[in-house]
Amino acid sequence: MNRDGTLAWGHHYAMVTPEHYRIEYDINPFMNPADQPDPVRAREQWDTLVATLRALGARVDVLGGAAGSPDMVYAMNLGLAVTDPDDMPRVVMSHMRFAERRAETPVAEKFFAGLGFASTYIGRSGVGGHFESGDAFPYADALLVGHGKRSDEVALKALATELDVRVRALRIVHASMYHLDLAFCPLDARTAFVCPDAFDAASARALLESVPQPIVLSVADALTFCANSVVVGRTVVMPACPAGVRRSVEAAGFEIVELDLSEFHLGGGSIRCMTNPLDIVIGRDLPGVPGGELVLA
Ligand code: ARG
Repeated sequence: MNRDGTLAWGHHYAMVTPEHYRIEYDINPFMNPADQPDPVRAREQWDTLVATLRALGARVDVLGGAAGSPDMVYAMNLGLAVTDPDDMPRVVMSHMRFAERRAETPVAEKFFAGLGFASTYIGRSGVGGHFESGDAFPYADALLVGHGKRSDEVALKALATELDVRVRALRIVHASMYHLDLAFCPLDARTAFVCPDAFDAASARALLESVPQPIVLSVADALTFCANSVVVGRTVVMPACPAGVRRSVEAAGFEIVELDLSEFHLGGGSIRCMTNPLDIVIGRDLPGVPGGELVLA
């Protein structure tokens, strides 16, 4: 956290080029192979997102997509990259729930290695459960991690131990908010988007309690993908922004840049899903907790 309350992370992202992006299977309620993205429009939307992030001063490192991995453009899910207190960049690679996405991991692992991140795994060969990094965000005193749809609860304990952090487990129950990044988005020290209806009652309560001034989203709000936004300093880059949400975001002191990512909504993802933050630092963005700790709601 910076002194002015803005997030210290969110200024460096990995993104994956969209040339292989298609809807070849349906592993979430948005996907329908009969409804394909327009490749030219998808490329334009992707280029605009990269240019916007760079214009805001963020660094974007680009990884080429891979044939046979049509969902790889959703880079947020490739792995959770962190730098630990002794300056070691590490990435916990995702162990994807669906076999359709597992070929992405070895390609991503080489890319992360090229950027200096040593990789580790949770649940390789099925032991330890699935983990998808679209479920994980540092916020306040913990790494908040969604589970129940893509990540398994059993993986969260391993994640806490692996990273020596506190993991706060949040059980997701809404089919269309299958990753935490569809129902939650940290904006700054005080504010975050929260769609309580995505979670079971105890997890919704725990999440609302960990955000001093939550901007509460209805399910209808969240289904516009408005929580699937990224924040660079005091600018929120959003794929959609319902009027009530806009008022709250502006009242909290943010500027909004709205971009059209409609082609990527066909695959069930948007701006956050397409960007993987590379500048999360343990000890700065969340406390280090030797031995790790898992907090269940
Ligand atoms: N089609 C992708 C999947 O179902 C979409 C991933 C969206 N990414 C995200 N971080 N929520 O896995």
